[in-house]
Amino acid sequence: MVFGASGGIGSALVSRLGAQSGFSMVAGYSRSSAVALDLGDESSIEAVAADVRRSGLEPRLLIDATGILEGEGCIAEKSWRQLDPAAMARAFAVNAIGPALLMKHFLPMLPRLGKSVFATLSARVGSIGDNRLGGWYSYRASKSALNQIVRTASIELRRSRPDAICVALHPGTVATPLSARFAKSGLEVQSPDTAATRILAVLDSLQAESSGEFFDQQGRSIQW
Ligand SMILES: NC(=O)c1ccc[n+]([C@@H]2O[C@H](COP(=O)([O-])OP(=O)(O)OC[C@H]3O[C@@H](n4cnc5c(N)ncnc54)[C@H](OP(=O)(O)O)[C@@H]3O)[C@@H](O)[C@H]2O)c1
Repeated sequence: MVFGASGGIGSALVSRLGAQSGFSMVAGYSRSSAVALDLGDESSIEAVAADVRRSGLEPRLLIDATGILEGEGCIAEKSWRQLDPAAMARAFAVNAIGPALLMKHFLPMLPRLGKSVFATLSARVGSIGDNRLGGWYSYRASKSALNQIVRTASIELRRSRPDAICVALHPGTVATPLSARFAKSGLEVQSPDTAATRILAVLDSLQAESSGEFFDQQGRSIQW
């Protein structure tokens, strides 16, 4: 299952997964899917969960590729002068609270035994230890909050589903609408398809001991 299937990385993930033979079904959900998923509306998340239950299929791989940097009320702040409570609240609603609600409704659907994965796309800029440039207060802080939620959920998940994995992933810089205004020369900018291929390779390689960690698109651990 891919949440945020309409996005640059999300749609590439759906295509890549569809081209692989390991899954009996690939389902993509977004605000524009037949059963719409809006992270700001928990009842829509419940409706998607009900849709999955109706299908009778057991979800084994769930990837949350939603997220927002600017627009829809969010600001990529350069200075504290631009801090705005409503914009900050919006970033937290989409980047941290929404994914937490996905965990609330979908982690209990993971099988009790055997490998299963819930991965959420975080961002390296959410690393507190790696923050050398400043800026992007809301995006950075909401991704840091997301990382903490991943870690916390992974501990709860391990108690009932010892083989399940819950991780945060940094996809690298990817050519999508989210990054278009910010991708700097000198950085490797991946195509969404390359990013999706790398993300799936990382998820494929993870073991239960990796649950609760934060990885980049090459599978390298990122400091919190
Ligand atoms: N691109 C990069 O360079 C980069 C770098 C680091 C991390 N990331 C992370 O990777 C993830 C995917 O980003 P992307 O580059 O693929 O961005 P994108 O193309 O802008 O896609 C963002 C996705 O999030 C969805 N979304 C936004 N608000 C939502 C809401 N309220 N409810 C449900 N869905 C919502 C969008 O749905 P709609 O189509 O309905 O708007 C879209 O599917 C994000 O978490 C981002 O922070 C990206």
